[in-house]
Amino acid sequence: MSVPKPSFNPTGRRPFLIRLGAALLGFLSLLIAPLAGLFVVTDPLRRSPSAGHRVKIGALALFGEKDPPRRVPILAARQNAWTRDKEARLGAVYIQRTGPDTVRALSVVCPHAGCYVDFDVEQDRYLCPCHHSYFGLQGQVVSDRSPSPRGLDELEVEIDGNSEIWVVFQQFRSGIKEKVPLG
Ligand code: FES
Repeated sequence: MSVPKPSFNPTGRRPFLIRLGAALLGFLSLLIAPLAGLFVVTDPLRRSPSAGHRVKIGALALFGEKDPPRRVPILAARQNAWTRDKEARLGAVYIQRTGPDTVRALSVVCPHAGCYVDFDVEQDRYLCPCHHSYFGLQGQVVSDRSPSPRGLDELEVEIDGNSEIWVVFQQFRSGIKEKVPLG
């Protein structure tokens, strides 16, 4: 008994669908390069604070040379997969004027386990309320009983031509001696 041969019709519906599929695939592959470029261009918006975020703090004149360190919130644009916050709160830093043209910026995050430290004006030192680590004005650990494995993390500071303070806001791993950026 003979099996009937399938007939091939080059003008039929199936070849048309195959050609259409191939054309669509070609079109999608053309989109890959521009989308990859867009991804790179918008990268700073999606970057987490741990990757280092240059943030404007304010005028140098707002910080007196005799003032104690002041906690300043860090606000910056942040983008996740679906939304873009114009002024998301990324964290905070302590700012202290250390001279006519110099400023120190310390992370508020305790390197022991990540609590926010307070500044004790009476004692002129930082104190972590969670497990009682104490830090001096330069961020150094000042008590043998402080469980923090290192001092407070100092952040990069820049004062621009208009006497505005900028900080590279960054977060670091807690619980270890070394200052290792997160992310
Ligand atoms: S988190 Fe600061 S001492 Fe533990």
